Amino acid sequence: MSNAWSWYVIAIVVLNVVGCVWLLWWTGKRRPGDPAPTDTSHVWDGDITEYNKPMPRWWIILFYLTIIFSIAYLYWYPGFGNYAGSSGWTSAKELKADQDEADQRLAATFARFDGMSIDQIAKDPDALRIGRSVFGNYCSTCHGSDARGAKGFPNLTDDIWHWGGTPQQIEQTVMNGRTAAMPPLAAAVGGDAGVTEVAVYVQSLTGQKVDPALAAAGKTRFAGICAACHGPDGKGNMALGAPDLTDDYWLYGSDFDTIREGIVNGRNGNMPAHGPILGETRARMAAAYVYSLSHGKDDGASGVQ
Ligand code: HEC
Ligand code: HEC
Repeated sequence: MSNAWSWYVIAIVVLNVVGCVWLLWWTGKRRPGDPAPTDTSHVWDGDITEYNKPMPRWWIILFYLTIIFSIAYLYWYPGFGNYAGSSGWTSAKELKADQDEADQRLAATFARFDGMSIDQIAKDPDALRIGRSVFGNYCSTCHGSDARGAKGFPNLTDDIWHWGGTPQQIEQTVMNGRTAAMPPLAAAVGGDAGVTEVAVYVQSLTGQKVDPALAAAGKTRFAGICAACHGPDGKGNMALGAPDLTDDYWLYGSDFDTIREGIVNGRNGNMPAHGPILGETRARMAAAYVYSLSHGKDDGASGVQ
């Protein structure tokens, strides 16, 4: 608050408090010539009279007490312009104290799971429940509340993984994030015609009916450019997050236009690092929940559904 505002506020506060005191004093005063409390000054309708009785003493005292309270309050708490109050209270400090307390409670809840690996956590039903709620709060915006994903956001319940489905790989993905890097490649595959050929070839990898001549031309281009990341047989490379193009799972889509768009513009799916956002243990619990979705059934761990 600027100084001018501060003085403005102080002036208004002082005026109000002093105004109240003055009003109490002035209205409580008896003036010469006032009718006595037992006198009536007017009579209406023959029998309705008005006395001039003073306010009860207790009521006036209560009023003075509230004024004293307000002065003490302004001395103790901030409220009097820029004066910070002698107690040192601020709403920011109170919030910080509450947050610290909540953090401590949170830490106590999670302490039991510190250092546990995600496949161990996945066997603990309590931990999985917490993991599921962390997932609901932080991951479902992108992956869907059922973790089945959407276009560009992978389904996490199946056993197809672009970055790997082992406990360590999933943990790495969630903790540190992943950025897919497929550059725009239209020029590299020889312009428009090349893009068409190679896109048709990709379609042929999953057994879609395509023009064999285009696919054959595309195959050569694929070997020259795309194989570097997707492998010579198109089966992908988890270290790069380059998907297997021969399975029937598509992050973006298997139709010609979508594949073409990917080759022309590149693809850069980004999974943000959640270690810094959630802290290690909570991030690991979300990862464990994800792990349980696809690994719950075969290794005896009880997946929370
Ligand atoms: C801002 C959106 C966003 C949020 C939030 C998000 N993700 Fe992701 N996640 C993605 C995208 C996009 C990818 C795919 C990256 C790529 O293209 O390879 C991904 C990939 C993944 C993968 C790798 C899948 C695979 O096939 O290897 C896992 C596991 C994963 N996310 C788990 C999580 C968990 C657990 C959370 C919450 C703690 C989370 N994600 C939060 C966007 C998000
Ligand atoms: C530098 C490595 C690299 C090269 C070269 C590369 N890709 Fe990719 N490609 C990737 C990565 C990484 C992804 C995953 C993108 C994402 O998750 O956002 C991807 C994704 C794709 C997808 C989407 C798959 C889906 O599930 O929707 C298609 C199709 C594809 N690439 C085809 C090609 C073709 C065709 C070429 C050659 C013209 C090629 N890529 C060259 C790394 C590469």
